[in-house]
Amino acid sequence: NGNGHTITVGDAAGASEADASLSEVAGPGGDKLEGTDAVEDDALHLKRRVGLFSGVALIVGTMIGSGIFVSPSGLLIRTGSVGLSFIIWVACGVLSLLGALAYAELGTMNTSSGAEYAYFMDAYGSMPAYLFSWVSTLVLKPSQLAIICLSFSKYAVEAFVTECEPPDSVVKLVAVLAIAVILFINCYSVNLATGVQNVFTAAKLVAILIIICGGVYKLAEGNTQHLENVFEGTTYSLGNIATAFYTGLWAYDGWNNLNYVTEEIQNPSVNLPRSIIIAIPLVTLCYALINVSYLAVMSATELVESEAVAVTFGNRILGVMAWLMPLSVTVSTFGSANGTLFAAGSREGHLLDILSYVHIRRYTPAPGLIFHSLIAVAMVISGTIDSLIDFFSFTAWIFYGGSMLALIVMRFTKPNAPRPYKVPIIIPVVVLTISAYLIAAPIIENPQIEYLYAALFIVAGLIVYVPFVHYAIVPSFMGRGLCDGPIPRPEKSYRLWCVSE
Ligand code: ARG
Repeated sequence: NGNGHTITVGDAAGASEADASLSEVAGPGGDKLEGTDAVEDDALHLKRRVGLFSGVALIVGTMIGSGIFVSPSGLLIRTGSVGLSFIIWVACGVLSLLGALAYAELGTMNTSSGAEYAYFMDAYGSMPAYLFSWVSTLVLKPSQLAIICLSFSKYAVEAFVTECEPPDSVVKLVAVLAIAVILFINCYSVNLATGVQNVFTAAKLVAILIIICGGVYKLAEGNTQHLENVFEGTTYSLGNIATAFYTGLWAYDGWNNLNYVTEEIQNPSVNLPRSIIIAIPLVTLCYALINVSYLAVMSATELVESEAVAVTFGNRILGVMAWLMPLSVTVSTFGSANGTLFAAGSREGHLLDILSYVHIRRYTPAPGLIFHSLIAVAMVISGTIDSLIDFFSFTAWIFYGGSMLALIVMRFTKPNAPRPYKVPIIIPVVVLTISAYLIAAPIIENPQIEYLYAALFIVAGLIVYVPFVHYAIVPSFMGRGLCDGPIPRPEKSYRLWCVSE
């Protein structure tokens, strides 16, 4: 451990994204940072504090974020018709549900909070597990932050411009500022970060309720003219349908979030699948209703043209209260961005030692957070929401497919391992098949540069793996370095920053 000492700070600094939203259930007093002793104690006796209700809240809280406010138009463009895009919205929900059920088997077999990392380790060994962490750190987490901040910025800017398209550069600038503010909050204090989360998550529900109630009201008034001939213009291209899935699946991402806290779930073999079975259909229902609501007040063409569909919706229906829509969406997306960075800071211990250093007084994992934010800023500058969503979904589904395969492989290689919750084998097989289609179809039909970038990132991970991890050649500035021997688990253990004695 070099010249530093390792202090386990439990889930204080390293609270996962799930923990971040959990505090909204458990109350903001959830952090125990009074002293290292208490903190150390806490890590040794992880409390099983996630019951069914918190489980559902955690999943719903992570899944609902920016996607439902930015994806509907993208999906409509890609499918060509209202009818097919509705089907894909629902299909994304079903796919997430099936994926999550398979994850429930994995999560109850191996309760490590490393989730995918741990499953890959068990099924395939250290190299694929390492590759997952590499991609998660360099691609998945930063692109989530970038996409959510760009969505935030779109809504924030849209609230101030009327009747003209906001310039791209302004949107990007505001997104970068948002990243900076969130970074500051998260480096400054864990309590502040979770506090922000509590306040800001409620906004999501407000936004969603307004849209659903408004839509139902308008439909009841007889505004169904945009819901006729819904299959006009439907695309038959398998590549377009797959990319439509990318857009939809972004809004559902986070369905596996409970797997990062399996250790803390009470009676996980019952509550993990149950939370999934309640939460994901609930989100699917909300998304389906929201899409219908949008069409109750605007036509498909208007939906596609709207820069910020929820704002257009508010303007049409809320009258003097129209400001409520951009406000609640910006607050909601800001909360999600904060939750994402909060989670990102906690899981890098196994990739680069320095990323898991925790600030000695503030207990925030500052180096990791700064690293993430820098990559996210680069992505905001160089990409667009749509290209980043494609990039994210493409990469994420390679690994979700990998987890499905891991489940199947372990049924053969570890037939007798305890499986407190066993899913019918057909479920991972179906999800694996669909992920193979989602990855392959766009490459074959309509190759984009993003897919190449994603592939290059993975290959770069391999190039780093061989010398630095497999042979453990370690530059001294990295402290203990990437890894010595078997990759240490990304458990809840963090090194303190400024540790020299
Ligand atoms: N589904 C969320 C949204 O619509 C994004 C979730 C990102 N994934 C995650 N594990 N935080 O914004």
